[in-house]
Amino acid sequence: MADSEISINSLSGKQFEYMQLIAEIMEIRKRGEKPVAFIRTYGCQQNVADSEKIKGMLAQSGFEFSDSPENADFILFNTCAVREHAEDRVFGNVGALKNIKRKHPQILIALCGCMMEQEHIANKIYKSFPFVGLVFGTHSLHHFPELMYNSLVNGKRVFERGNDDNKLYEGFPIRRDGSFKGWLPIMYGCNNFCTYCIVPYVRGRERSRDKQIILEEAAAMINNGYKDITLLGQNVNSYGKNLEGGVNFAQLLREIDSIDGDYWLRFMTSHPKDCSKELIDTMAKGTHISRHLHLPFQSGSDRVLKEMNRHYDRKRYLEIVNYAKEKIDGLSLTSDIIVGFPGETYDDFKQTLSLIKEVGFTSLFTFIYSPRVGTPAAEMDDPVPASEKSKWFQELLQVQEEIAAKRCADMVGSTQKVLIEGKTGKNNELSGRTSGNIVVELDAPESTIGTFQNVTITKARNWILKGKIENINNGGI
Ligand code: 5AD
Ligand code: SF4
Repeated sequence: MADSEISINSLSGKQFEYMQLIAEIMEIRKRGEKPVAFIRTYGCQQNVADSEKIKGMLAQSGFEFSDSPENADFILFNTCAVREHAEDRVFGNVGALKNIKRKHPQILIALCGCMMEQEHIANKIYKSFPFVGLVFGTHSLHHFPELMYNSLVNGKRVFERGNDDNKLYEGFPIRRDGSFKGWLPIMYGCNNFCTYCIVPYVRGRERSRDKQIILEEAAAMINNGYKDITLLGQNVNSYGKNLEGGVNFAQLLREIDSIDGDYWLRFMTSHPKDCSKELIDTMAKGTHISRHLHLPFQSGSDRVLKEMNRHYDRKRYLEIVNYAKEKIDGLSLTSDIIVGFPGETYDDFKQTLSLIKEVGFTSLFTFIYSPRVGTPAAEMDDPVPASEKSKWFQELLQVQEEIAAKRCADMVGSTQKVLIEGKTGKNNELSGRTSGNIVVELDAPESTIGTFQNVTITKARNWILKGKIENINNGGI
């Protein structure tokens, strides 16, 4: 389907009717007691945001939420397919639900998310886990109430995947997990087909949300006291490509940034091939835009980048990074890296190390390559043994640890604006984050959670800062 054919539909009234019907069924089953749902989310923030929609629909259907699956009436795992390890965890944890189903046969156990869009996985679940009653993929989220209703009334197993009509649905009731830190999806899907990545296959093509809807949602979040809003997309830099009216990501960012209020605006993930100078200039001039750029480079070797189908080289990556460093004071850079891509040699890997040293990242998300069924890389020769890849991986962690420690040590003595997020679990200690997304631990009253504070950095321990508040702020900073 051509990009221009992507249409935006509102969540149909029919789905709200199903939510009402679910509420009625559960009221009878529970004899007036509130039904309870347990939702576990694996993987990225996009999945977290999807779970918040599911929770919104469940709350609308009368459900309350529990932190444990033991006494739940409905259990849902929202799964991730990006690496084998994530999938193995899901299989292990689903297996453990068998006993709960035996004790409470009325319970409905459901699986959704990226894993479920893969045929071989859905088949495996169907055969090996007969107690799983409902399975649906990312493309079926917009009619989750109908699917849930069908499994509740028919008592039959409902499996649905591959229902990609390339449409974008709005109007979900959302129940956000946090009260001052929240996710705001601006687009779904990905068109990039990096050769190692399963995402385009399980999340479909890029679809950008309407700018006006995003602006209204952002304004509502700010109005409701959200202090840290992260715009989400697999590749936010290509926001707007399928929309009429020629809006791009930098413009969207500027328009959100112009909303008055006391908040930080973040975004992820940026693809280096589409990261424009206009975006960097927008960050530099922004009022609320955080000084953090997550720009995954995946590999420092041009040969590997080509094999990965990334459409940029080391030179272009450094160009944009150096421009960003020059323009944005105190910029904090983070990245994703894959170690052991098929055919990667130690020489290629050394180029990844040298890029890390050259850039000086605040932190890295590092992954050992994991073959994904159906992706081109899974068919490539992969002669390097896992033990060798593990050694490279350890070497990378060590190099990064030193870089992060130095970056943090350089901040000692400075004053940073910090959003206090919660308790660390140690004594009265709280933890928060800087605009650059660096963790700061400090002693402060619990009443400061959810507020911005000016914090003097007193110490650095590896990649974590220690600090103290000189004067507690009760208003805006
Ligand atoms: N193996 C290892 N890491 C992967 N990622 C995506 N696919 C794979 C894979 N098959 C990593 C990339 C991406 C991050 C979200 O996950 O680094 O940026
Ligand atoms: Fe996967 Fe590449 Fe798309 Fe990111 S840009 S989701 S790594 S295909």
